[in-house]
Amino acid sequence: MLYSIIVSAGLETIAREELSERFADTGHLKILERKPQRILFQYTGNPRELLSLRTAEHLFLVLKRMPKMTRSRSSLAALSGSLSRMGFKEVFACCRQAGISVRRRVPFRVTSRLSGKRNFRRLDLQRVIERALSERGWYLASSNAALDVWAEVHGDDGYISLKLSANDMAQRPYKQAHIPASLKPTLAYSMVRLSRPHPDDVFLDAMCGAGTILLERAFIGRYRYLIGGDVSTEALDATVTNFGRKHQPRQFFHWDARTLPLRSNTVDKIVCNLPFGETIGNVPQLTNLYRHCLKEYARVLNPRGRMVLLTSQDTLFNSELKQRRSLRTTQQLTVDVRGMRAKMYVVRFA
Ligand SMILES: C[S@@+](CC[C@H](N)C(=O)[O-])C[C@H]1O[C@@H](n2cnc3c(N)ncnc32)[C@H](O)[C@@H]1O
Repeated sequence: MLYSIIVSAGLETIAREELSERFADTGHLKILERKPQRILFQYTGNPRELLSLRTAEHLFLVLKRMPKMTRSRSSLAALSGSLSRMGFKEVFACCRQAGISVRRRVPFRVTSRLSGKRNFRRLDLQRVIERALSERGWYLASSNAALDVWAEVHGDDGYISLKLSANDMAQRPYKQAHIPASLKPTLAYSMVRLSRPHPDDVFLDAMCGAGTILLERAFIGRYRYLIGGDVSTEALDATVTNFGRKHQPRQFFHWDARTLPLRSNTVDKIVCNLPFGETIGNVPQLTNLYRHCLKEYARVLNPRGRMVLLTSQDTLFNSELKQRRSLRTTQQLTVDVRGMRAKMYVVRFA
């Protein structure tokens, strides 16, 4: 069966790596293509397993894919026409495996997305797919639709897919307490991956907010010690709530990350979502924060250690990093954070 996952902009490579790492060994996976915010792959295993992917926002079963959509309405007709010949037995079996109950007369709804110039509108796309499926005996339902059909045309590609994931696929059950500017777990997981987790890691997030990065690290696998801290007691309370009793050993501190009560060269990985300046609007204050944090991070990190830092303030970050000649960026990734362009920097000693 053909599947796709949708990921946040910029996470495509990491998502591909996660898929390969988790499923390539099973012999069930063949990755076909990487598109903006989408990975297309064949998978012959149980789709329920795919629902645990930590980079994915949504999981789709692709019913039809047309890689050569033109602007004309005839390609729209070809896309919908392909449904009239399609058998749904395997599709329904796959839905059941993913936990969606499918009855004989299938209630469905269609969501449509269209980008690029076309001789048809998004609503035309939606209507032809609704009609094609109704003609196959499916039942168009305004509420309580069992099947969520997505009709999409982006660039040359047309897709008709079934959404297998619930709306909360990218949410995590651990995230009970929230703070403003808390990081999406998919982004936190991706940052942790960039740190190359190792069972011996002493792992630090010195501005841990609600603890998302620390928890994603905890879920990835063994570590030696987790250390988190924040200047805000509300944020620390949120971290403590989200951790509960699980994930030992760990320690949380109420601190200012500009002066860390940690010995030099004792941390293996630092992963941190730096303030972007939304709350600290004042440039000199933000400069001071970045300058002193980088100094402290360089002091506590061991010489073979690795930092992964996220910021939208790339000019400030790069100019402060330049001042610290011992550090260099080895990798950077542009990502979307709450609609803002930001970068994940992997920083190591030169
Ligand atoms: C962008 S948020 C981090 C969000 C976190 N990654 C999460 O997912 O919840 C930045 C955090 O840095 C903290 N912070 C700001 N200045 C700090 C400082 N000087 N020392 C420690 N924490 C600080 C804020 O209180 C806030 O919780």
